[in-house]
Amino acid sequence: MEELALIDLLERFGSTIYSDPHGCYSLLRSESPVQNVVLPDGRRCHLVLDHAGARLMLSSNSVSNQRPGSGDSHMLESDDPRHSMLRQTIAGTFSKSGIRAMTPAISHIVDQQLALLPEDEDVDLVPTLARVVPVLVTARLLGILPEDEPRLSRWTTEFLATDDGARRMAGARAELTDFISQIFEKRHPVDGNGLIGDLLARPRRSGVTDDDLIATITLLVVAGHEATVNLITNAIWCYLSFPHVAQALAAGTADVDDLIAETLRFQPPLTLSSSRYLTRDLELSGTALKGDGQLVIASFASANRDEAKYENPDLFLLGRRTAGHLGFGSGAHRCLGDGLAIAEARCVVGELIGRFPDMSHREETRWRPSCISRSQHSLVVRLDGGAPGSGTARGHQRESRPMQNSPEVTEQIRSIVLEVLHDSDGTTTEADLELDTDLRGYLGFDSLSIMYVLSTAEERFGVTLGDAELMTSTMSVRVLASYIEAALARQSTRTPTVNHPNAPVGEML
Ligand code: HEM
Repeated sequence: MEELALIDLLERFGSTIYSDPHGCYSLLRSESPVQNVVLPDGRRCHLVLDHAGARLMLSSNSVSNQRPGSGDSHMLESDDPRHSMLRQTIAGTFSKSGIRAMTPAISHIVDQQLALLPEDEDVDLVPTLARVVPVLVTARLLGILPEDEPRLSRWTTEFLATDDGARRMAGARAELTDFISQIFEKRHPVDGNGLIGDLLARPRRSGVTDDDLIATITLLVVAGHEATVNLITNAIWCYLSFPHVAQALAAGTADVDDLIAETLRFQPPLTLSSSRYLTRDLELSGTALKGDGQLVIASFASANRDEAKYENPDLFLLGRRTAGHLGFGSGAHRCLGDGLAIAEARCVVGELIGRFPDMSHREETRWRPSCISRSQHSLVVRLDGGAPGSGTARGHQRESRPMQNSPEVTEQIRSIVLEVLHDSDGTTTEADLELDTDLRGYLGFDSLSIMYVLSTAEERFGVTLGDAELMTSTMSVRVLASYIEAALARQSTRTPTVNHPNAPVGEML
């Protein structure tokens, strides 16, 4: 078997591996669907980059989730039959009816948090909403008492670790485990209506110990929290960053479920799978791997942008077929909490957008420097949109909001497009250029012309736009003008402390 050359991701890509993992993985994938890498956190592994290979690996019985030589662990680090036994112990809570039963509580929590947000000043939605709702839902799910919520909140905040924050996270995890242990030892009270109370009350499957249940509950808090925070943050970020999303929601041609599904594909909250170990020889997308116990990891971020699986994978397209995305993993260890996570994200994002459709983004995007967890440091917005006297009212519906561009910006874009047309021998005439004309079709799907329009617009307005992500199927004069206006608005609120020279243009929007 041919040895793959070793690629140190940080050495090869620098901090771009954090700011633009998709670009880095796309390059690696084009070289080989399976690479031998050193991850930024120091682990050396076979990294599976293509969709077909990742799915195969995640459901293969030639890999084990249990580290060679280690003892019993939680379900994500166990193989069958132990894995199934632990999973089935709590599966009912995450069933469709279990999630339905949680929905009123989720709505209530979201309502309360939204009511606390200031509407006419800048507010960071990460600490005030995206982080708060999942922790309160988890507390309710488990039956953690209200007086213990601040502790749970502190621990979960520590879990939002970067690659270099592992020690802090380990400390928080130990404190959380200790806290859950005290509940199981009946030294600390719990609400009997939650999952923990239920596990304490009902007869145990044979073979399941207290330690197993304590590890399971700890896993639920750790595994569920950060990914849900990221999904909520990323979905709001996509809404703020791609004007065609707001347009489609306003026009009713797409809904919040489409937004969440495409966010999970386009910007998966967790970019890498957990560790797997090769126990038997396995061929993945033409690469033969030895069953020698080596580490193998799937890149969800890469697989979800694999052009063999999704057409135009770098475009954020509402309503595309997202089925098969790996945002929740695949195979026996596929996320157990997917339904709960979607219910939370749907409620938070849907309510936020429904109430504040005009909210505006007030800062540049700063991705957290993690190779596993994908989301922004902060999401500073102005809920009333920031326009003087805009006074967004509660219950305001998107449908009532037509998209208004400034006439100056619109006219400039039209003139740039017409410039291109005059230079080409195309048969299209100026008279055809309506506000909603699809520019790609209009310019004959000539990518050089599109690039010219974008770069000229950037130059004239002195802003930075993302190219690949901008070229959506609905890139019209109207949409392009909105991008320019959003970039201009951000520029005027930019603070000097925001500085990330390595972020590529596509990711800064
Ligand atoms: C958007 C939010 C979430 C995302 C993107 C997500 C993603 C994932 C992924 C990718 C895996 C598989 C990891 C692998 O195979 O290596 C996983 C497993 C798991 N997730 Fe989630 N998760 C989310 C929310 C939750 C929530 C809310 C819970 C529960 C409260 C949860 C509980 C679990 C558990 C228990 C596993 C292990 C399943 C097993 O080993 O059989 N997750 N999650």
